[in-house]
Amino acid sequence: MSRETVRVPLGGRSYDIHIGGGLLEESGALLKPLLKRPRMAVVTDENVFVTQGERLRDGLGAAGIEADFITLAPGEATKSFAVLEKLTGRLLDLGVERDDMVIAFGGGVIGDITGFAASVLRRGCRFAQIPTTLLAQVDSAVGGKTAINVAQGKNLIGAFHQPEIVIADIDTLGSLPPRELKAGYAEVVKYGLISDADFFHWLEDNGPALLSGDQDGRAYAIKKSCEAKAAIVGADEREKGKRALLNLGHTFGHAFEAHFGYSGKLLHGEAVALGMALAFDYSAQEGLCPADDATRVKTHLKAAGLPAQIGDLKTSITADAIAKHMMQDKKVEQGKLTLILANKIGDAFIAKDADLSRVTAFLKERTGE
Ligand code: NAD
Ligand code: GLY
Repeated sequence: MSRETVRVPLGGRSYDIHIGGGLLEESGALLKPLLKRPRMAVVTDENVFVTQGERLRDGLGAAGIEADFITLAPGEATKSFAVLEKLTGRLLDLGVERDDMVIAFGGGVIGDITGFAASVLRRGCRFAQIPTTLLAQVDSAVGGKTAINVAQGKNLIGAFHQPEIVIADIDTLGSLPPRELKAGYAEVVKYGLISDADFFHWLEDNGPALLSGDQDGRAYAIKKSCEAKAAIVGADEREKGKRALLNLGHTFGHAFEAHFGYSGKLLHGEAVALGMALAFDYSAQEGLCPADDATRVKTHLKAAGLPAQIGDLKTSITADAIAKHMMQDKKVEQGKLTLILANKIGDAFIAKDADLSRVTAFLKERTGE
């Protein structure tokens, strides 16, 4: 199976994303040249520790690296101040120094809280990402966004803190629950929809095999996704401009995540899938994008087992409630809604100042009010 390396171009803070099978076994060899001393703290969750922990411990041990594992509870609730306090305390108790490397070994939850802990520990210590969900391998482990959640909303307390290496071992996806795999697939589709129509077409042909376990297909899709994200992050690390394109589907999607209380009833990737379908439908209704493109997007997401229309959620929600949640989004500026819309598949754009009354009228049609 192919091994790929994608570089995130950030000057002196540039780093490589390694993609392929069997990389946990090689993790020690990949990390050792970056270490000041052969020890590290690895933050993970219970599911990842049980299914993949031994492989990582052996891979680090093979290079003579001593690892202290810190195991957190799985789930979104872990991204909290309470867990951050315990985690940073534990890292200090372990004697982690600023030049030591803290490893985030897990999905986006572990990546986000560990990255944030690393960003504040001793005013910022080094860290690396070893993502174990498809979502984390194509999105959250790349680009340096870290965060926890607070009562006021999701990801509202955080920092930009880049990892120094990302090791995406696609063999870890073998133990990932299928629903989580599909949710991560939504973020893969996102890259095709934003800027790469050929890649979307490739996914139409190869997505089903990839979801069923085709390893070469997975490696290729993760590489294409990371290349797309690396190019955007390299051009706009702090989301002053085009990085906002990565939020395709997110403003609609967050509204549904908020409706379900950010619970396991609707996974982030599932919300993004529905959000992307709505963004394309809205673009078509506004005459910006061909209706056929919106249909293709929905057909593909549905075939992948993802929600593509509001009715798929089997919940009662009004257009006004969705619009209210959308106005809580981080991307609202001076009361104006920013949406990511599309001219066609592979050509998304940032629409500042979206007309909330038109969006609400569109949603009313979709909820059948
Ligand atoms: P997650 O971290 O909750 O992982 C999903 C589930 O899979 C968990 O139960 C976990 O224990 C389990 N798991 C992970 N890897 C496994 C494996 N290999 N085998 C078996 N089980 C495994 O969810 P996620 O979808 O990876 O991440 C979602 C989080 O990512 C959200 O908090 C979201 O806000 C965040 N996110 C961040 C960014 C960013 O740029 N920082 C981008 C997108 C999403
Ligand atoms: N997941 C969106 C971003 O990294 O900007």
